[in-house]
This record gives sequence, C-alpha cells and structure tokens, in this order.
Amino acid sequence: MPLHRFAFAAAVVAALAGMSFSPSAAAQTADPAWLRYAPLDHPLSVPTRVVVLGQDPVERNGAAELERGLLALSGRTTPDPSSDSIVLGTAQQFHARKPKAATPSLEPDEFVISWHSLPMVRELDIVGGSPRGVLYGVFALLRNLSQGADMSHASLREHPAMAIRWVDQWDNADGSIERGYAGRSLFFEGGHVRQDLAPVAAYARLLASVGVNAVNVNNVNNAAPFLQPQMLHELVRVADAMRPWGVHLALSVDVASPKSIGGLATYDPLDPAVKAWWNAKVDAIYALIPDFAGFTVKADSEGQPGPASYGRTPADAANTLAAALAPHHGVVLYRAFVYNHHLDWRDPKADRARAAYDIFHPLDGKFLPNVIIQTKEGPIDFQAQEPVSPLFGGLTRTSQAMEIQVTQEYTGQQRHLVYLAPMWKWVLDFDLRVGGAHTPVRQIISGQSFHRTLGGLVAVAGVGRDHWLNSPLAMANLYAFGRFAWDPNLTAEQIAVEWTRQTISRDPDVVSIVAKMLLQSWPAYVDYTGPLGMQTLTDITGSHYGPNIEASERNGWGQWHKADHLGVGFDRTVATGTGFVGQYSPDVAKIYESAATTPDNLLLFFHHMPYTWKLHDGQTVIQYIYSSHYQGAAEAAQFVNDWISLKGRIPDELYYNMLPRLEYQAGHAIVWRDAITQYFLKLSGIPDETGRAGHFPRRMEAEDARLAGYTVFDVNPWEDASRGKAVTCSVPSGCTAQFTYTGREGLYNLAIQYFDLQDGVAKFTLIVNGQPLVSWAANNDLPSPRPDGDNSTRYTAHQVELHTGDILSVQGVPDGHDPAALDYLEVLPGTPQP
Ligand code: GCU
Repeated sequence: MPLHRFAFAAAVVAALAGMSFSPSAAAQTADPAWLRYAPLDHPLSVPTRVVVLGQDPVERNGAAELERGLLALSGRTTPDPSSDSIVLGTAQQFHARKPKAATPSLEPDEFVISWHSLPMVRELDIVGGSPRGVLYGVFALLRNLSQGADMSHASLREHPAMAIRWVDQWDNADGSIERGYAGRSLFFEGGHVRQDLAPVAAYARLLASVGVNAVNVNNVNNAAPFLQPQMLHELVRVADAMRPWGVHLALSVDVASPKSIGGLATYDPLDPAVKAWWNAKVDAIYALIPDFAGFTVKADSEGQPGPASYGRTPADAANTLAAALAPHHGVVLYRAFVYNHHLDWRDPKADRARAAYDIFHPLDGKFLPNVIIQTKEGPIDFQAQEPVSPLFGGLTRTSQAMEIQVTQEYTGQQRHLVYLAPMWKWVLDFDLRVGGAHTPVRQIISGQSFHRTLGGLVAVAGVGRDHWLNSPLAMANLYAFGRFAWDPNLTAEQIAVEWTRQTISRDPDVVSIVAKMLLQSWPAYVDYTGPLGMQTLTDITGSHYGPNIEASERNGWGQWHKADHLGVGFDRTVATGTGFVGQYSPDVAKIYESAATTPDNLLLFFHHMPYTWKLHDGQTVIQYIYSSHYQGAAEAAQFVNDWISLKGRIPDELYYNMLPRLEYQAGHAIVWRDAITQYFLKLSGIPDETGRAGHFPRRMEAEDARLAGYTVFDVNPWEDASRGKAVTCSVPSGCTAQFTYTGREGLYNLAIQYFDLQDGVAKFTLIVNGQPLVSWAANNDLPSPRPDGDNSTRYTAHQVELHTGDILSVQGVPDGHDPAALDYLEVLPGTPQP
C-alpha cells in the first residue's frame, strides 16, 4: 500500500520505526535455541521407551534429555506402548549386562549407536566410553532425528577430534561482559555468583549438545579477584550447575596473583614461594571442585602483567601453573596473544603480526605436557579477514589450541548477520606445509600432525542474558564452533543446514534460503568492511564497530593498511617488508612473498600496492575497493528480501525479531560502503569507473538544507558522514531541516540518515508540505557517544507520493545526550513496506 500524502499521523507508525533490539522479558531458559525438538510430520523412527543402565548423574541426565526429546519430536505426552526400547549405558555397563556379547572398546567421549533385534523386540543401544560419551550419543541421535532423518537402521560411531573443546566467557564479577553484545553475565552480578543459575545449566546443556566440555567463566583481563577464597566458594555452585552436562569449570588467572592477592613480594614464576603459593591455591580449588578443568592465561599483553616483568618467559609462567595443576589432571591454556601495544609506528619493520611467532616459536618443546598454547586464528586479532597464524606451524613439540570468536567483536557485534563458519573452515583447512608435508590447521590443533595427546578449539563466546547471543541467527556461530571442535571435517554448509533444520524449519525451501543467507553473510561483510586483506577498517582503539579508517594507523597498537595517496597495504615480505612472511613454511611463504602469487583476498595484508595494480580478477586495487563495497552493501540489502520471502513459512516471532535487524544491517552496510569509498576516492584521487563512489544524485544533504535551529558540524572521522558534514540540534523543542523536491512525480522510498546516540531517545518526524507523515524514535542501543559511523542509522519511509516542488522537512527533537543529528535524506525507488 502506498503511503499517500498526509495519510498517516505521526504516532501511527512510530512503533514500526522503533528499531530497538532490546530483549523481551522472556526468561533466558525459555529460549531453546537449536534444541527445540519440533514435532515431526512423520512417525518417529526410534522407540520412545528409554532404559538407562547406570546411576551416574550425567548418564541419567542424558536419559531424561532423550525422553523429553523423543516425546517432543513424536508429539506424544507418554512413551508409546511398544516393547521396543533405547538402552543407554557405558561400554562397561553393557558388558556387565551381557558378558558374552562383544562390547566395543571406546575412548571416554566416544559413542556407538546400533540396533539389535531380539526375538519380538528391537533395541537401539547407545554405548558410551564414559557417561559423557553416553550423553554425546544421546545428543547425536536427537540431532539426527530433529533434522528429520530416518534412524530406523542407523549405525553411528563418533568421537571428538579434539580433547579441548572450551568456551571462554570474558565475564567480569560485576556482571558486565567484555566484548559481549547480549546483555549481562549468566554467571555474575555485583561481585558475586548469581543466585539464579538455571540459565547456566541451560547454557551447559546447549554446549553439551555440541560436545563442548568446559567453560572458562571469567575475563582474561582483571582475573585476580576470582582466586579469592570467597569467590572460589561461590564458584562451586557454577561447577555444580554445569556438571550434569559433562561441562567443567575453568578460570582465567592473573599471573601476578601471588603478589596482588596473595601478599607475596613477587610473582616471579621461578621463585619458590610463588610456586608454593600456586600449588596451595590449586589444591584449594580442587578441594572445592574436584573436576576443575584448568586455567587460561593472558600475560604480558595489553597491560596484563606477566613473566617478562622478571625477565622470565611464557614457558616459565605456564610451567609453574602446569606443575600445580598436573597432579589433579588440570591443564593450562596459555594464550599466544602476547604483543607490545606501544610499537613505534614510525619504524617500517615494527609489525604486531610477528609477535606471537617471535615470542613462542623459540620456546617450542619447553612447555610441560599439560600446557596448551592457545593461538587466535589469525596473527592480528579476530579481524573480518586475516591470514592463518603462522604459529600453528611453528610449534611442533607443543600442544596447541586455536581460539576463535563467536561474539562478533569485529564482525558486526551481532547487529549484523555474519555466519563465521566459512572463515573458520578456511582456517581449519589451510595447509601450512610444515616440513613440506600436508599439515592442515585442523590436524595440527587436533594433535594429529605432531602426535600430541592434547589439542583443541576454543571460542570466546560472549553469551549473555539477552537470549544467549541476542540475535537468533548469531546462534549459528555458537553451534558451528561446537560442531567444528567435534569434527573439523564438517563443512560450513553442512553445519548451516543442520542448524537451520533444528532451529527454524525442516522445509527444504526455508532451509535453502536461510543456509544461503548464512553462507553469503561473511563474504558480504568482508566486502563492505575490509576487502583485499585490509582487515576491519574500524575504530581500532574504541568500539571496533563502525568505520574509522585512520584509527588503526599511526599508533602503537599496530598498523593495518598504511594507505597514502599512491597506494595501500602493509609490506610484510622478507625482501622489503617486516619479514612476517618468513614465519611460514617455505611452501607457503613462496606464495605470500610475491604480490603476483598472493591471493587477491589477502593481497593488502602482505603487500603495499599502488591503487592502479591489476588484481587477478582484472580490476585495479582501487576499483575493487569501490566495487566490493557496493557489492557487499547490495548483498546485505538482499538479505532483507530473502528474509521477507520466508514470511508465513517460519514462526512469526522469529520473522519479526530478525526483520528489523536485517534492515538495520542493510542501512549500516551503506554507512560502511560510503565511508570507505569516499575516503579512498579522496585519498587516491582516482574516480570510480562506474561513477558511484562519492556521487549521490538522489541525496539531499542536511548541511545544504534550509535549517531552523539545526547547526552544521564536521563529523569525526569525516568519512562517517555523507560529504563529512551533518547537522545537530540543541534547541529542546526541536529543529528542522527543509528540502525542496525537484525530481519527477511518483512513489518513492525516502531514506533518512541520522545519528542514533546513547543516553537519550531523540524523535524524528518526516513532514511533507507541512503535514507530518511519519515519526520514529532514535532508540537503538549503539556504540559511541558522538555522532559517527557507529551510530549512523537509516530510517526508510516506503512508497511516499511526491510531486515536483514538494517541501520535505525532517524535524528532530533532541533528548538527553542525543542531539537528533541528521546527515541526509535520499529519494529512492519506491518499494512496499515489508
Ligand atoms: C581484543 C579485545 C580485547 C581482549 C583481547 C584479548 O583485543 O578487543 O577486549 O581483551 O582481544 O583477546 O585478550
């Protein structure tokens, strides 16, 4: 329906426009995520009668989960009367039950699912190597059934590829979560463990369903308070809540604790008193929590104290902790994220990417067996796209885990749909060619390549009280992490399909549309943020969200792109650059050392190139920068259309939850697109061959409008506003920007670009020829207290009838610290309101 002129009073549409992502009041535990067990439209292919052989709480919990799941899937309230059954137990219990039958010899987390026909009855056995193996078998069966699979003749045998399958929460004792985008902590509030730990148990259930076996609950920064006796006592309840799901508790520790909370004069890891302090502390932990998993350590990094204070190495610190943990079978995950954030940016050889390898490679073989070096997947820091960290190939006598990020710090903070599994899969499959042999990262971190018993995949999760990850589709990342830790040979596509069938619908059309959206979302995000290996061109010292291209240059945190008027990219070659390329094996280094052989998608990570350099795809670097941003923003817009095509075929609640998020993303992709294209247009002076960059013929700039109350200001950074300027209002009753429409008569969409600031809900009204048409509230929760690319937001009024000479006004009424700042109004082809 067209929006006819003057037809709508302001208040009518206000609710539609209020695009807040704040959570509903529904309890966290009410959100089943991928464990919905939606009723099947065909008979269940397995019995609903469950028999459990053992008494172990994990096993019995598995049986209860299976009963619940089978009843839900079959739409029944009680088990069917048939005498067929599913029998659960460990290999030992099955052996005791039938000593003459062959029982498989299984690893602890392994399971076998197989059918047995007895006279008159059929029995499906789930045999685990341990109670946890039984639980994993239960979830595997339910996963298959939930997807609609016929299990009437199924036979499955699986074990996890890696021993360490942990999530790291960066939760603080006060209840905040560092780099978390889903509300407050499940675990802590006001300096204590929360009273209500039902959400923790529900989280552990979700994690167990994909094989995750430990949660490190506290932030790697500011970890010392967690070793205080009172907190350790409180943490017992957290361990208790997770234990029935086979999920163990782990903690981040501050290596300075012996001094900061222990009262010693030193925290030198080689000092006997320090060692004794750690031994006693670890013993005290195990006395409270006998199945405690271990420690994660961030040291000598981003202001965290470390062994370097005493001239000691990471191996010295890690081994002191590991020696304390070893008698209890605990492990140390020592993070390789160690670098100097006061680098001299004037030194062309200074390169943060080198740090992990430079520091840890010389220590290879010096770590105790229960130390695992935990390395981020790329050499920098969870950017939208990076090469694989060369350290994975540089530690052949040390156990390793790879750290990935489910919480979307640099990848849209859950406001953007970005399914990261394709990126992780690329890393897992990357062949580092250590010693000239086939050594894909997945085999290194599973311990296979270099014959290590320990290895793993760890995800920084950022799960909070707002529906786990706030955005329903972001949960596909948590799911994918667990599935990859279990089996890195799965593909991103298989996982997307599995997740969609269990979470949204088994309808093949729906599955194919959702899976397509998921799979396209990461490449699209790279396209509209940081293509060609430029990483994320965001505010690197602040929010890590919107565009801020120079923020990553000329400071000690490491240089990103080194763009100047002639070219862009960081020369990391051995021949002329920082030498980072030399950290890879010769086979890999050979590819990255030359611009001619470096894949386009990483070119600017390794090389500083003229804008006129021709890529393998035939475009120049500058033209690619323009085109990819337009392409990425167009893909983001397409996600909205894809989603609209699902209306009526997926639950309404999910449909209306995601729609405004995807519309917001499409608008913010335009902010990114325009920021980067106008920045590089100005810097390079080379026009876009297709004339798009910097040209907005349908746009009316607020700074050029007839202003009443509004004043013009320079947006910082300039590229975050159209032409660098916007208008701001300090008149409490409101301000107006007035434009005269000079185009042709017709139905149009009017896009209004404004800045939605924190601490205040400014109101906007679009007025046509003096009549209010639509009003909306700037009530989204976005980063940055200043008008910039973090909070630049698009509101679209659909199908507005316009005539030449119409007067269009935008009225903004400030509120609190939100000055109703306005960037522009754009007249676009009319499309119906979704
Ligand atoms: C990123 C992140 C920090 C975090 C750090 C880490 O830099 O922005 O918040 O502390 O990674 O991994 O330790």
